[in-house]
Amino acid sequence: MNTLESLKWRYAVKKFDNKKELTQTQINTLKEAFNLTATSYGLQPVKLLIIKNKELQNTLVPHTWNQRQVLDASHVLVVCVPKSFTKEEVAKYFSLVKNIRQTPDEVINPFKEFLTNEIAQKSQEELFLWNKNQAYLALGNLLTVCALEKIDACPMEGFNPEKYDEVLELDKQNLRSVLVLPVGYRAEDDFMKDLKKVRKETQDVILEYN
Ligand SMILES: Cc1cc2nc3c(=O)[nH]c(=O)nc-3n(C[C@H](O)[C@H](O)[C@H](O)COP(=O)(O)O)c2cc1C
Repeated sequence: MNTLESLKWRYAVKKFDNKKELTQTQINTLKEAFNLTATSYGLQPVKLLIIKNKELQNTLVPHTWNQRQVLDASHVLVVCVPKSFTKEEVAKYFSLVKNIRQTPDEVINPFKEFLTNEIAQKSQEELFLWNKNQAYLALGNLLTVCALEKIDACPMEGFNPEKYDEVLELDKQNLRSVLVLPVGYRAEDDFMKDLKKVRKETQDVILEYN
């Protein structure tokens, strides 16, 4: 399948086949793809939880507007961002740059100072919203990779983040849940499976300035 065929094959799965499981190789591809997502300044203020535990998945159903996909899916991915985001994250990022690229301090320091100030000027709520944008980007990347890898998925914001945070004890990890992505295989009798895609005409969503 070429890229566009894969993207047309993908749809938001309403019913997963609860008998089929993804392989560890497939999950590893998703892990790597998540980590390769572009983020603002490269700070990677996102974490991915991977749940494969039917009991836990069942507990999450009522906190997901009773959407059964989180129970029937092979794995449930939860994209999270830090609850509290501080300049320490900037320091960690630059020490990683230094380790990996051996970038000298005189190159790093001005940029580090700029970014540290940027973070210091923003409230935790502003930083949360900024980081949340990165979570959506990660979700988009995962969705495309799923399509290319023939992994079925359903992007979800129809869940109660506070309840997820409570059940998954995310507070302890300084995390907040932002998005949910059950992954696995579409059920043969998913009513959405063979429906036509509903999309505007491309000329209605694209403006070309030549
Ligand atoms: C951010 C986001 C949140 C979504 N939340 C849900 C959800 O909670 N439950 C669901 O069944 N579908 C959800 N969807 C799926 C959309 O309804 C679906 O992507 C859209 O109707 C287009 O259909 P398609 O993805 O099948 O092409 C969500 C999609 C996105 C991008």
